[in-house]
Amino acid sequence: MSTTFQLETSTSRANPTPQPMRRLTVPAIRKRKADGHTAEPIVMLTAYTARQAQLLDPHCDVLLVGDSLGQVIYGLPSTVHVTLEMMANHAAAVVRGSWHAVVVVDMPFGSYEASPERAFDSAAQLLKASGAAAVKLEGGEAMARTVEFLVQRGIPVMGHVGLTPQAVNVLGGYGARGRTEAEAAKIVGDARALCAAGAFAIVIEGVMEPIAAAVTTAISCPTIGIGGSAQCDGQVLVTDDMLGMFERVPRFVKRYDDLAGRISAAAEAYAGEVRARTFPGPDQIYQP
Ligand code: KIV
Repeated sequence: MSTTFQLETSTSRANPTPQPMRRLTVPAIRKRKADGHTAEPIVMLTAYTARQAQLLDPHCDVLLVGDSLGQVIYGLPSTVHVTLEMMANHAAAVVRGSWHAVVVVDMPFGSYEASPERAFDSAAQLLKASGAAAVKLEGGEAMARTVEFLVQRGIPVMGHVGLTPQAVNVLGGYGARGRTEAEAAKIVGDARALCAAGAFAIVIEGVMEPIAAAVTTAISCPTIGIGGSAQCDGQVLVTDDMLGMFERVPRFVKRYDDLAGRISAAAEAYAGEVRARTFPGPDQIYQP
């Protein structure tokens, strides 16, 4: 089966029509973990554009439209500046470019924390505008009531505990969490509370490895690690990090390519040919 599809501009659907047509569902992801065990780990990557989604989709169970797009796409200093409109637009593009993975969209900072009702309005707006299947929000026990409120009203929620980047101004940076016993216990308690509230999966970011392993054993819903543990029920990375688009490589990132180097080399070759007037060549011009 071909793994690359063209985007049909008239219908915004993939062409050739991929088989099977049925997308994975949120309940199917939740059910990957049964009796505390996940036989097939959940594969999740971030996606922000339709083309990126097309390329990643055949290999992923979940595509996350992460608010990391604030830094990755918009060059913002943190995710705090990301808006609901940015998330809705990129999520819609990712839904149009995918056919197989569950698309989850991050709720941006300021769109959900004030009250469950506010969170419902924002989440509904995101899902209506994009066609994504679920939202992700950051925070532990303090967000449990909101998670329950959303799930009871038809909005699947993925939780996010440990290092929560939207709280950078409270945390004081992006260092790994769970270095003290109290902090470790809080992370486990946060994950338990979200799972009990009905989260279908929980991202555990930037924590000491034994904590991620302990949370995975402690809760019935799947954990998805990033700087977590190989014992987690799934893994996620920011796609641009793992493709090698940035010089700065956090410890938890494995680079599977050097796209920055390759893009730079391609741009250098192009610039050289333009300056030497060897581009366009005979193959790239129209002759009367
Ligand atoms: O915004 C994001 O990309 C995320 C992942 C790092 C989990 O939340």
